[in-house]
Amino acid sequence: EAETRLVGAAAPGPRRDVTLPGRRPRVGHRHLISSVLEEIETIFHGLGFSVAEGPDVESDWHAFTALNMPPGHAARATTDTFYVAPDVCMRPQTSSVQIRVMGAQKPPVRIICPGRVYRNEAVDATHHFEFHQVEGLYVDEDVSLADLKGILDRFLKEFFGPDTVIRFAPSYYPFVEPGASVDIRCFFCGGKGCAVCGPLSGGWLEVLGAGMVHPNVFKAVGYDPERWMGYAFGVGVERTLPLHSPRISKIEIARKGRARRAKLYYLRDLSGKAARLTEENKPEAAASNTKPASAPQGAPAVQAPK
Ligand code: DAH
Repeated sequence: EAETRLVGAAAPGPRRDVTLPGRRPRVGHRHLISSVLEEIETIFHGLGFSVAEGPDVESDWHAFTALNMPPGHAARATTDTFYVAPDVCMRPQTSSVQIRVMGAQKPPVRIICPGRVYRNEAVDATHHFEFHQVEGLYVDEDVSLADLKGILDRFLKEFFGPDTVIRFAPSYYPFVEPGASVDIRCFFCGGKGCAVCGPLSGGWLEVLGAGMVHPNVFKAVGYDPERWMGYAFGVGVERTLPLHSPRISKIEIARKGRARRAKLYYLRDLSGKAARLTEENKPEAAASNTKPASAPQGAPAVQAPK
């Protein structure tokens, strides 16, 4: 009688073969941008910086005017963005978070501000309308250009490897004076000039912008420019990825977040050599313009995320 009850209770529908092996769920992982942001945050944490955040949708005043770009300033055109109302825009750079933090607290300030930024740009291999930056700001009574050089040298050596050679070249950003672009010697060709650094670069790769905070920025946030000094810098995160992870040559690849392809790059970089291509993680035809060869010689070893 018990047997009849059991059979009667069996689920209707097709029979299942419970002896078949199960389907293995694909294991996810962090996006490359998230891992790199975390790595940058970890390095700056060790240097005494804390993390600050600001809104992606920003007032024109925070995004431009307070950064020494009043209406009509020519430099506004170089970071043109999208407007959601006449005086409200998508922030074109994380520098606006400097203004928010200084507006809310007294010095000393020692922060980094990671975040997404927006530009009115056509998409090509190195430009996009949406990307990520990490801003840095240090304000205190006695801050010099030497401090800025020291901190960036330390950061870049931790990020790209201890043999990284760094150069400061004069450059213009309205919110700093003096301003500099910070370059690293191309570690693919050792500074001879190659496909990665370009024939006209002289063997240098620009990785960030930096400088000493302009007195007009201090005035805008109510800090006394006679008393306070500071430095600021901004890193373009996607721009560092091909240097950090040699196979990511196009910003688009980093942005799209296609799990399978991102995972392939990620595995390759973590192991520091070509990952074994299994059926599961083989790159698709679209990625075949980049050869699945081993990383270029002298490419930096990438630390596994902690
Ligand atoms: N905001 C700049 C950009 O988007 C990067 C930058 C340059 C930030 C110099 C800074 C700086 O803080 O001092 O290109």
